[in-house]
Amino acid sequence: MSEPSSLDPNAPENCSDEKLLILGKLSRGIAHDLKNLLAGVQGNTELALREFKNEKLARKALTNVMLAARSAHELTEQISAYSRHDNIPHKVLDLRETIASVERLLEGFVSPSVNLRISVPDSPACVVANPSQMQQLIMNLCQNALQAIGSKEGELCVTLGIDDTGANITLEVSDTGPGISAEILPRIFDPYFTTKELGLGTGLGLAVAQKIVQDSGGDIQAASIVGKRTTFSITLPHSDEAPEPEAPLPTPEDFPEDKKAILLVDDEPIMRGLGMDILHTLGYRVSVAENGSEALEMIKRHPDYFDVILSDSKMPEMSGPELAEQLYSIRPGLPFILVTAFNDASTEARLKELGVTEIVQKPFLIENLSRALSNALAQGKQSAS
Ligand SMILES: Nc1ncnc2c1ncn2[C@@H]1O[C@H](COP(=O)(O)OP(=O)(O)OP(=O)(O)O)[C@@H](O)[C@H]1O
Ligand SMILES: [Mg+2]
Repeated sequence: MSEPSSLDPNAPENCSDEKLLILGKLSRGIAHDLKNLLAGVQGNTELALREFKNEKLARKALTNVMLAARSAHELTEQISAYSRHDNIPHKVLDLRETIASVERLLEGFVSPSVNLRISVPDSPACVVANPSQMQQLIMNLCQNALQAIGSKEGELCVTLGIDDTGANITLEVSDTGPGISAEILPRIFDPYFTTKELGLGTGLGLAVAQKIVQDSGGDIQAASIVGKRTTFSITLPHSDEAPEPEAPLPTPEDFPEDKKAILLVDDEPIMRGLGMDILHTLGYRVSVAENGSEALEMIKRHPDYFDVILSDSKMPEMSGPELAEQLYSIRPGLPFILVTAFNDASTEARLKELGVTEIVQKPFLIENLSRALSNALAQGKQSAS
């Protein structure tokens, strides 16, 4: 995010805009740091869970830590989604698939007294958007609906369609909870507006939902008949293009048979320790460097030893991307995985140009890191042959 200046067309027009910009920058920084800390909590817990296969109480406690870390991660996502000014990656996606993934996520916490009705068209309903943001949008609306219904009996409907002109995809999320009074309705999209008790809601859910829809060129409206039904209606421009195919899952041949050597670069001792433990569990040989120059030194000394570099992005003196760039002149084609708490399309394209093979978002599940490693190694093999 660039500093506002008088030449900047997006420069704030008045003091309160400037305050908002500063607040956005601040929240984004806090969310970034929290993501780093959560990566430590989540990763260590996941490792411990693997060890305590038979100890019931330990597993239960650790599962609760995982759940808490996941909720905290969701909160950092909301904060960064709301304060984000840069463009996160958009692609063509079929919203039927997003709804299917939300349905899987909801499975765990829709009570039996709620009738979940999902209706999607037979043909693809494609839009250009960011996949995880679309999931976040639908989840936020469904969570509100479920919270509104509470422990009573009720109905939550998610209906996807294409309007008569074919120009727009329509998405409706409605519930038979108590509804929203006419007094409150105009304020529900305001950031931090909540009627929930302290600790139960931050009031960011709908502000984020609205921002996500607007960022994809769409519109969101709410209507409510108190005591009957509340409906959130979204329209998004329909894309005629076919969705991009998902990257193929790595096959067993992509996994290391003999132990592959990884150079782990991270300035934070907790993350280095965690990274080592995870990589050992996954069956890799691990060497560590505390910063970019140490990593470069090690690679210069043993130019053919390492099969893949796994580096943190934000480090003092030399950042992960700078390391990737310098490495390119020593060992072009050496797979390079960058671990980052940011998610930004323009940076992603630039990183690929610099020679970054895979990007892993923090905090990550061991499965995601493992997949990135096998993908990077498979690509390294291709470029070597
Ligand atoms: N389906 C719904 N039925 C009734 N009230 C709703 C519904 N959806 C939203 N609201 C009202 O809008 C307010 C703002 O919703 P929003 O999702 O932004 O924040 P929240 O749910 O209170 O907190 P958060 O989503 O951050 O946990 C809610 O507190 C609630 O009063
Ligand atoms: Mg909410």
